[in-house]
Amino acid sequence: MVGIGLIGTGYWGKNHARNWKEMLKEGIIDRLIFCDIDESRVKELAGGEVEYTTDYKEILKNPEINAVDIVTPSHTHFPLGRDAILAGKDVFVEKPMTMSTSEAKDFVKLAEEHKKILMPGHLFRYHPGVTKVKEMIDNGDFGRIYYLYTNRLAYSAPRRDMGVMYALGVHELDLYCYLLGTNYPNMVKMTEGTFLQPKIEEFASILMGFDNKISGYATESWISPFDRKMRNLTVVGSKLSVKIDYMKHNEIEVFDGVIETQEGDNGMYPVVSNGTVKTVSIPEKEPLKTELTDFVNSIVTRKQPLSDMYSGMRAVEMVEECLKYGFFKPSK
Ligand SMILES: NC(=O)c1ccc[n+]([C@@H]2O[C@H](COP(=O)([O-])OP(=O)(O)OC[C@H]3O[C@@H](n4cnc5c(N)ncnc54)[C@H](O)[C@@H]3O)[C@@H](O)[C@H]2O)c1
Repeated sequence: MVGIGLIGTGYWGKNHARNWKEMLKEGIIDRLIFCDIDESRVKELAGGEVEYTTDYKEILKNPEINAVDIVTPSHTHFPLGRDAILAGKDVFVEKPMTMSTSEAKDFVKLAEEHKKILMPGHLFRYHPGVTKVKEMIDNGDFGRIYYLYTNRLAYSAPRRDMGVMYALGVHELDLYCYLLGTNYPNMVKMTEGTFLQPKIEEFASILMGFDNKISGYATESWISPFDRKMRNLTVVGSKLSVKIDYMKHNEIEVFDGVIETQEGDNGMYPVVSNGTVKTVSIPEKEPLKTELTDFVNSIVTRKQPLSDMYSGMRAVEMVEECLKYGFFKPSK
């Protein structure tokens, strides 16, 4: 029996609500309650089909609810999550897991002590394009990986509760480590631009260095007038390269040109063949549904989800240090 309490039905919580309703109908979960302090919002989303409340403590007292999904403003993640764990519930919490490393460490410690699942919403680990690219990296299909880059650009009103590093950069810091199979990059450097609101950066440029000279770059911006909504990932390798447009859930682009050094009569020489770009279909899946399904599997099996609490803690640590010092270096 899996009973879920969704806390927070705002901009992003609406999408969680839609998926949980679907999963209830499909029998993936057995009970569902929505909660938001804004009654008109939660009532409308519940739509007469789902029970709702404006007090999350009602959910915590309910013995038929064994897990909560927290989609409230990020500074509330830890206080709400702590109450939920102390009430005996497993916790899914949107990213960033917390707004400070010290809270993230306390959160993880509490989950460990109480043997509860704590899963941060690192959504892009569940994007079907990323699933495919991870498979290809692990198979060695890229040959030698040279670099990865992401543009996550928009022209939209900046958030008021956090800047692009906690809101967007957290995705790349987590995802590049996941793809390359490491806990941390060897180093991260960051520059940011804060123009419109105090302490809310609207722009950031992130550079990560990994083993074997692999570089990762990312540009995160809410003030990009020529690229009103762009979110992508390119992985450049010696044997092939791949581009994922995150807005598309059913295809990736593969470039099969060879970009390497070969041995010739007069020693080694670089080869850059023309190659072609092919669009390759992948099974279409909504990343959020795959992510929430992984949470349900963890509740049932007690195994750590693909997006585990330790990755949530490390991502917050990297963002916090970059915002404080402009760089991050893992302690040995
Ligand atoms: N994974 C992603 O790609 C992604 C995308 C967008 C947002 N997010 C994350 O989702 C979270 C929410 O963001 P949002 O844009 O939906 O914010 P939002 O402000 O639109 O919604 C937050 C909701 O939480 C409710 N709320 C606040 N405190 C509450 C409490 N104590 N009990 C019950 N309800 C409460 C508010 O009334 C509001 O409806 C943030 O942490 C954000 O970083 C993740």
